[in-house]
Formats: sequence, C-alpha cells, structure tokens
Amino acid sequence: MLVVRTRAELRAALASAPRPVGFVPTMGWLHAGHVSLVERARAESATVVMSIFVNPRQFGESADFARYPRSEPRDFAMAEAAGVDIMFAPGVEDVYPAGFDTVVSVGAISRPLEGAARPGHFDGVATVVALLFALVGAERAYFGLKDYQQVAVIRRMALDLALPTEVVPCPTVREPDGLAMSSRNARLSPAGRAVATVIHRALVAGVAAIEGAGQRDADAVRAAMTAVLAQEPAVAVDYVSVADALTLAELAVIHGEAVLSMAVRVDGVRLIDNELATPRP
Ligand code: PAF
Repeated sequence: MLVVRTRAELRAALASAPRPVGFVPTMGWLHAGHVSLVERARAESATVVMSIFVNPRQFGESADFARYPRSEPRDFAMAEAAGVDIMFAPGVEDVYPAGFDTVVSVGAISRPLEGAARPGHFDGVATVVALLFALVGAERAYFGLKDYQQVAVIRRMALDLALPTEVVPCPTVREPDGLAMSSRNARLSPAGRAVATVIHRALVAGVAAIEGAGQRDADAVRAAMTAVLAQEPAVAVDYVSVADALTLAELAVIHGEAVLSMAVRVDGVRLIDNELATPRP
C-alpha cells in the first residue's frame, strides 16, 4: 500500500493507477464497516484508494473533534490487509490550503435530523467530499448507510454538481448484538457499550410495529421506539424520527418506505443508527 500525504503525491500515484478507481473516504479508526466498503470497492475496481482525514469542518464541538480516535499505524495495517492500494492521509493544510474559502452547501435534504442537531455539519461533509472527489477522480465512491442522511446529502450533491464519481451506498455492518459499527464505539465504557445495544432494539421495535403489526401512525411508531430506549436510563435521547425514506420529511402517516432513525448519547458519546421499513400492502 502506497501512503501519500499531499495533493501532488496523490496526483502522481493516480497517474499510473489502473482504472477503474474505487474510493473509500474515511475519518480513520477503521472497523469492519470500513473493511466491507473496501471489499466492495476491491471487487469492482482495479485500484482502491482510501482517504483518512478527520475533517475539522464537520465537527460542531471542538472537543468532539479532539476526542475523535486516531491511530495511523493501526489504520494503515487494517487498510492494507483489506486491499487498499493507495492511502491518502493528508494534513489539514493539504486539504484546506491557506486562502481556502469555498463551502458546498446542500439544500433541503441536509436540514432535518443530523442537520438540525449539528448546524454546519453537512456543509463540512459536502465540502470535503466534493474536494476529495475532485482530487481522487474515482469512478465510484463507497459510503456506509449507517450515515443514511450523509449518503442522501452526498448523492444529491453529486447529482446536482454533475460530479463524475458514482456514489455507492453500502449496508450497515453490525456487531452480533446489533450495535452498528462506528468509530465512536471505541469511546464507550464497557457498561456504555452494553447499554448502547438498546438503539438497535428500539429500531427493531419500530420496524416490527410497521411491518409486523401494520402500524401506519408515525407517532405510535416513534412512541414504540422511545419506550424501548426508556428501558435504559443511561441513554439521553437527541431525536427519534420516522421520515420519508427519500425526502427525510417527518411523517404523520406511513404510506411508503420510511426511514426510522435516532441519535442518542451514551457515556456522552453521540451515536446514530437507522433502519428502513415498508408497510404491508
Ligand atoms: O463518514 C465519514 O467518515 C465522513 O463524514 C466522510 C464521508 C469521510 C467525510 O469526512
């Protein structure tokens, strides 16, 4: 695996790289979810590029940015074993050189849910992803659906700006007890890690209400998920949502595919997850 740090080194490495190029953008502290993205990219590409960049522009709280887990030796070993050919691990000044003064801001799809809870977050994500897409010039880029709204925002951006990189959404990878893989899980205490399994149990209860019990009233589904979360007093709920799977608008009545999502804090660590549900005809 070739490690490159600057835009010039990346350009030089890509000049002779066989096409198509598959790209996996990350913020590091890799886990099985990232490995699954690399495996998909590996199966569909002649060259696999990964970026590791903890993007300061997408963190509201500077403390959250500072606490984000980082370990290059660990990440590089995992990336190489998974099949990455080129690792782009730039510093902040390589991504945002002096004078950088552009923000990519996606519209309605970025406003609810994570956009409402974390003002400016999706501007930071869209800006860095647009820039990384331009630098890497991949045929395809792979994103995990645990960040459902992020995928929707990036797809909208790529479509609107006619970016030549195809956005490929990939399934959420879960621990055997249902907890979605996330770099943030590393910051949970053993007790918090056990408590966090309630997130997926709550989502499963919501899916069962819609697909099993035929519930169409979105408030009743929100209540079913909130009741499961309430079984764990150590969980602080940020939001519980039942939204249209395409527009992310909150639903009153569930007619078509819905995305059930939530953000909670456990041990002060903010965790998000989601599941899709479709009512029976
Ligand atoms: O999902 C992430 O890890 C980040 O938001 C991304 C897409 C790499 C942009 O910094």
